[in-house]
Amino acid sequence: MERLWELRGKVLRPGKPPETWRFAEDRDATTLHLGAFTPHQDLLGVLTLLENQGLQLRGMAVDAEARRRGIGSALLEAAYAAAIERSFSSLWCNARAVAVEFYASDGWVVESDAFDVPGIGAHYVMRKYLPEAT
Ligand SMILES: CC(C)(COP(=O)(O)OP(=O)(O)OC[C@H]1O[C@@H](n2cnc3c(N)ncnc32)[C@H](O)[C@@H]1OP(=O)(O)O)[C@@H](O)C(=O)NCCC(=O)NCCS
Repeated sequence: MERLWELRGKVLRPGKPPETWRFAEDRDATTLHLGAFTPHQDLLGVLTLLENQGLQLRGMAVDAEARRRGIGSALLEAAYAAAIERSFSSLWCNARAVAVEFYASDGWVVESDAFDVPGIGAHYVMRKYLPEAT
């Protein structure tokens, strides 16, 4: 968890205090954290799935040095598999405006007007519909 928080904080909350990188649900039994590692166990990307009005994706972060290599997409694929395993038919997130293209490229749809998250900027609710679990 310390390594997840470190990467999440560095990418998503630079210069902000630790309480802003730690989510209240991080230790919930239903919360799932996924990480992308190098063969040397360096952590390059993280995401968190938590149960909130369905299944919410939070804390999607890939190290700046490692972007555009498919790590974010690979983490999303693993998240979809976990969601289907738990019989969710979709997952949603509050997407930063700068990340909308990333999610859209993987089939997510925008479901809200833009809204401001103070200190971070414009966001949109986005959703990914999944095939039903069999
Ligand atoms: C958004 C983020 C997680 C994407 O991770 P990534 O590992 O770079 O993504 P991928 O390499 O899997 O990209 C997959 C596709 O998404 C799209 N994409 C990714 N980053 C993009 C960008 N900055 N602008 C436009 N399209 C982008 C592209 O279609 C890309 O495919 P391509 O590289 O073949 O063109 C990463 O840039 C990041 O951590 N950003 C800062 C934190 C952030 O904004 N997180 C989301 C909060 S809601």
